[in-house]
Amino acid sequence: MTQTTSAPQHEDGTAPPAARFDAIVEAAVQQGLLGEGGPVAGFIDTAGVRASVGALRDAFAATPEVLHTFAAKACSLIPVLRLLADCGMGCEVASPGELRLALEAGFPASRVVLDSPAKTREEIRLALALGVAVNADSLGELRRIDALRNPSTSSVLGLRVNPQVGGGSIGPMSTATDTSKFGVALRDPGAREAIVEAFRERPWLTRLHAHVGSQGCPLELIAAGVARTYELAEEINATLGARQITSLDIGGGLPVNFADETVRPSYADYVAALTAAAPGLFSGRYALVTEFGRSLVAKNGFIGARVEYTKDAGGRRIALTHAGAQTATRTVLMPDAWPLRIGAFGPDGAPKASPVLAQDIAGPCCFAGDVVAYGRELPELAEGDVVVLYDTGAYYFSTPWAYNSLPRPAVYGFRVAAGQEGEGPGHAGAVTFATVRGPQSLDSIAAESGLAHVDALIERDD
Ligand SMILES: Cc1ncc(COP(=O)(O)O)c(C=O)c1O
Repeated sequence: MTQTTSAPQHEDGTAPPAARFDAIVEAAVQQGLLGEGGPVAGFIDTAGVRASVGALRDAFAATPEVLHTFAAKACSLIPVLRLLADCGMGCEVASPGELRLALEAGFPASRVVLDSPAKTREEIRLALALGVAVNADSLGELRRIDALRNPSTSSVLGLRVNPQVGGGSIGPMSTATDTSKFGVALRDPGAREAIVEAFRERPWLTRLHAHVGSQGCPLELIAAGVARTYELAEEINATLGARQITSLDIGGGLPVNFADETVRPSYADYVAALTAAAPGLFSGRYALVTEFGRSLVAKNGFIGARVEYTKDAGGRRIALTHAGAQTATRTVLMPDAWPLRIGAFGPDGAPKASPVLAQDIAGPCCFAGDVVAYGRELPELAEGDVVVLYDTGAYYFSTPWAYNSLPRPAVYGFRVAAGQEGEGPGHAGAVTFATVRGPQSLDSIAAESGLAHVDALIERDD
């Protein structure tokens, strides 16, 4: 398997960014989307998303039957989901909220897959009524489905297994550890037999599902988990003497390279690793479902934030920006696991050329750890400058944290006029933006914080 490598330059393994989005930052500043009136916003490259879907399709081109779904959790914004639906994707959802977003975005129910480890009876009932595919997370959930299922449902029904092939470098992203909360733990004593029986008792159960893990999981580990799932399907069908399992949902999880510009591993690397581990997987013996999230959108998005102040403390320079834990939650809470590339731009949106200095890039939240990068060597920042957090199109601005009642940042899609893609500063005029989500208003924050029940806790004697 060939993978591109390049040398990271910062201590945390990230490299200085290239110019891919320079014209976009400049245009965002010129159009007032970033600056005093818009201190932080997320941006998403619509052509980039389409290109990523294209790369996914190309990698699976030889597979007779495949449904690529987008894991809604990676970018749970209706216009982004609509873009992905328009690209021909299906949608993987893991909550009633995500199901609602997927339907609002226009995904047909038949192209939606419901996962999640804690589905309520009501959720299952709704999914079955709509014809959404459901992957049961446990044998207990299968028993619920027994009671709720109408034989006329068009939902494809599956069972998630945990192949227990081990974890990757980020524990919370590893779903195939021995004790993971997801799926039926395949290597536990008696589990295999119980799974075979579950299929024998339910002729309508036709799918096996596994999602081995995400960021930090090497391809070989993901491939091993998928291979164990494939082998289990073969064993079940052989034992039952029928091809009852007709499809395999192989999950998502392709890791993203946050260290530099290159897309690695690629979907082609992924298909090569799976082909090596489970040669029959792409033969058409089973229809396939995929559930990729981060690999489709992470590198197609960035966060831009204004530098509000700079200060020195204990010999250290700190830039206080508007991008902190409310929009870069993972990076702030687990900085070693989620380092981000950061770019420095002037108040006019042009890349800064001032001498480089080690600086902490801090956020607006009121806790000391709200820092997205420590001692990062960047051109010296000043009030009014803009910092850019790259590779944040997935699980960052789309899933904000309401800490300190900070508003959800605005999100804009952007497009570059034909022939001017990839051009740097000076081509800002070729960029057009579309609002994906407006900045959250103070009225909205108050409403979400119980305004309608303002007197609820005041005791009265009357
Ligand atoms: C069941 C399932 N499918 C798909 C995904 C998407 O993973 P990724 O964004 O790493 O591709 C996840 C992520 O948590 C998941 O839990």
